Amino acid sequence: MGGKIVILGVFVADTAYRADRAPRMHETILGNSFALGPGGKGSNQAVAAARAGGDVHFVTKLGKDTFADMALRTWADAGVVPEITQHEDSYTGAAYIFVEEATGDNAIIVCPGVARTISPADVEARRELIESASVFVTQLEQPMDAAHRALEIARDAGARTVLNPAPAADIPRDMLALCDFVTPNESEAEGITGIRVETLSDAERAAEALLEAGAGAAVITLGENGALYRDRERSLHVPAFRAGAVVETTGAGDAFNGGFAAALARGVNPVDAVRFGSATAGISVTRPGTAPSMPRLAEIEALLGG
Ligand code: RIB
Ligand code: NA
Repeated sequence: MGGKIVILGVFVADTAYRADRAPRMHETILGNSFALGPGGKGSNQAVAAARAGGDVHFVTKLGKDTFADMALRTWADAGVVPEITQHEDSYTGAAYIFVEEATGDNAIIVCPGVARTISPADVEARRELIESASVFVTQLEQPMDAAHRALEIARDAGARTVLNPAPAADIPRDMLALCDFVTPNESEAEGITGIRVETLSDAERAAEALLEAGAGAAVITLGENGALYRDRERSLHVPAFRAGAVVETTGAGDAFNGGFAAALARGVNPVDAVRFGSATAGISVTRPGTAPSMPRLAEIEALLGG
């Protein structure tokens, strides 16, 4: 199982609408299908890491409502240990996800609900847990200052720190310097570095800029083109793994980050952990939904070995 993985982030209920195209403003269109399921980047990453064999603890805030029940069921099924508080005076968030039928690509509005109030003080309340992590992971759906404080605690305690800077945001330099790994996709990498990422050499330059800004290593996920890994010594392109026809790419980045964290926690070297994360993502895109599409360890190993 390896060392403990502590993830700070957000759970929301994903409401996914498949349609041939997105509606324009003032327009109503008929969709093809609808699905409700567990989502939220942090929670998806926790589910992915646990299914991939990790010992995962997930820190967040929930309301006391139907979506909170969905969260608790999801984590119980996946073996994620919830480290949460529940709040009657607010609500568990939700995401509107438009999935384009032809491509499986998506556009999302996420409302984190009560998780929007996660504060540095809430993080302090989990100090001991964070200090016990071998790998600490966070994203940016909860407030930046909470992520920042958690990264400080994790770094001081000697945990390996992973920041998945999603959704895209302007990240303070001193926060990047707390990260052993920063894992943006193309547009998030552009948001941080100002470098437009369209080719592999763009990705190399953006990774270089992330290292200059203080990150220990950069992993830029490139969708169907895999991922670029760069640290102080080397730069390496890891092609994507194909596990079947693409059904829905929503949550692929989360699959990647969860798989990556699970591999790191088992002591796998970073480059092989990127391969493991890519294989995790490669399977997740062949299935509908986000958290429900995360593969189990045996499936990932079969794809890597085959
Ligand atoms: O990364 C995918 C996730 O982003 C979805 O599950 C949705 O909830 C949004 O938060
Ligand atoms: Na999926």
